Amino acid sequence: MHLGRTTLSKFLIQELDGRDESRDLAALLVDVASAIKAISAMTAKGALAGVLGSLDSENVQGEVQKKLDVLSNTAFVNTFQRGGLVAGIASEELDDPIAVACSTPCQFLAVFDPLDGSSNIDVNVSVGSIFSILPSPKGREPVLQDYLQSGRQQLAAGYALYGPSTMLVLTVGRGTHGFTLDREVGNFILTHPNIQIPIETSEFAINTSNERFWEPPVQRYVAECKAGKTDVRGRDFNMRWIASMVAEVHRILMRGGIFMYPKDTKDPAKPGRLRLMYEANPMGMVVEQAGGIATTGRKRILDVPPDQLHQRIAVILGSRDEVERVERYHQEYDTGVDQRYSSPLFKERSLFQ
Ligand code: F6P
Repeated sequence: MHLGRTTLSKFLIQELDGRDESRDLAALLVDVASAIKAISAMTAKGALAGVLGSLDSENVQGEVQKKLDVLSNTAFVNTFQRGGLVAGIASEELDDPIAVACSTPCQFLAVFDPLDGSSNIDVNVSVGSIFSILPSPKGREPVLQDYLQSGRQQLAAGYALYGPSTMLVLTVGRGTHGFTLDREVGNFILTHPNIQIPIETSEFAINTSNERFWEPPVQRYVAECKAGKTDVRGRDFNMRWIASMVAEVHRILMRGGIFMYPKDTKDPAKPGRLRLMYEANPMGMVVEQAGGIATTGRKRILDVPPDQLHQRIAVILGSRDEVERVERYHQEYDTGVDQRYSSPLFKERSLFQ
């Protein structure tokens, strides 16, 4: 035990002042951390615990559920139900929200993706959990509509990364802070206070197999990055794709970069791949609190009013300079400023020319 170390509980006591609501929020985040420790132990055991592989079931998104998806969901659900601090929970793995019995008037709703990046589970590559804490209506049981709050309303948000070490990264709206799990002692220790995403970057992350389905502004941005020194960017870029949003966002928090899962036409029923309520919103808050930007390309993620619990959305986030550039390319496309990449409405001999 090192003297002067800041555990998660000590941090939360110091960070959140003595009001009842803050005390309860601190206690709730300690509960979140205990679910994360349980999931960390399961993912670390992997094949030894017989937790790898798929089940016969599908979630509400039509995705085949992995055993660890369901076990991780149970870890969160049990923790919240026993903790008595939330009035309701909603999860990627549950079709509908669940109301939770509270001993005291509960002020919070918890929304979470218990295990994100599940395609990585069976190949032992980093996965994570993502959570968002929202205010609950006072004096009554929450209904579905109560969950549909924009990301700006979040009281806390964060993620756990199950990588070589397990980390918990969270924000309560006063910066973004990272804690590393000391497995022997079972404590999360503050190791990365006040994370700041570098403003500039030469690293981008996107699934380029979808290139032909992207909109022109994203095609333009990626084409310019790939052309590097030989084109307008004047410098070479590097590309990374882990297929785990948590790992991708964590890398960006540590050394900068831009992550994109943009709108595409691959499946017209899905206006993006990632889910607004339990992926884009919590990551948006974490990124903004670390000095970055999170946008759809056309709108700040945290300002998007949700209309469905499992709604999907385009996500572009990371280092300020690059994300602003992609936003500009969307604007130039939408207004016809850039002829090479402008909307068909603005091309020569088109309606608006
Ligand atoms: O469900 C979300 C997710 O697994 C993210 O964690 C990740 O960024 C993305 O999907 C990977 O998508 P793809 O399989 O298309 O690369």
